[in-house]
Amino acid sequence: MLGPNGAGKSTLALLLGGLLRPGAGRVTATAELAGADARTPPHRWRAPALARRIGSVFQDPEHQFVTGTVFDELALGPRRTGQPEAAVRVTVDGLLDRLRLTTLARANPYTLSGGEARRLSVATALATAPRLLICDEPTFGQDRRTWLELVDLFAELRDAGHGVVTVTHDPDFVAALADRTITLGRP
Ligand SMILES: Nc1ncnc2c1ncn2[C@@H]1O[C@H](COP(=O)(O)OP(=O)(O)OP(=O)(O)O)[C@@H](O)[C@H]1O
Ligand SMILES: [Mg+2]
Repeated sequence: MLGPNGAGKSTLALLLGGLLRPGAGRVTATAELAGADARTPPHRWRAPALARRIGSVFQDPEHQFVTGTVFDELALGPRRTGQPEAAVRVTVDGLLDRLRLTTLARANPYTLSGGEARRLSVATALATAPRLLICDEPTFGQDRRTWLELVDLFAELRDAGHGVVTVTHDPDFVAALADRTITLGRP
């Protein structure tokens, strides 16, 4: 999803993610994604159902951290969907490893660097294995290594059949991954 500052990309991302109630119009999800909730707009789905279906990564990663450690942040979604603690640990350890955060498992999320915080925010969205991942400017401010890791990760998710929607101003990211682009106009 492309477009100039203020075009409404982040707003649309929140609407698609079921995190904002539309002031006008309707958001509907396919039966493939919504299952029994196909007639209900995503913002009215129960939290565990939403977490299993759609993962959202905010433009500012700090705005989504709500626990005191990186580990608990990653465990939050799986715990909420009722996973037993042993399974939660396996999921979290896998994500810590995949996103190079293992040594930071006990750190407070608010003390992470920008790149680490971004990796954590993506990892938390993936922790419940949602069918659809929505990421707002995932590559903003990332170094080459993290950029490549994010591109690899999104390509893997796409190839495994997950939907990936990203807001971006990054033409290299679009060239590397996008099957389809939508450009929102200047307001
Ligand atoms: N509650 C609100 N009422 C009215 N306008 C709002 C409200 N919340 C946000 N806006 C405006 O909506 C517009 C779209 O904001 P949004 O954050 O979606 O833009 P964006 O395309 O993500 O921009 P950027 O590229 O800078 O991140 C902005 O002009 C913003 O000020
Ligand atoms: Mg935005």
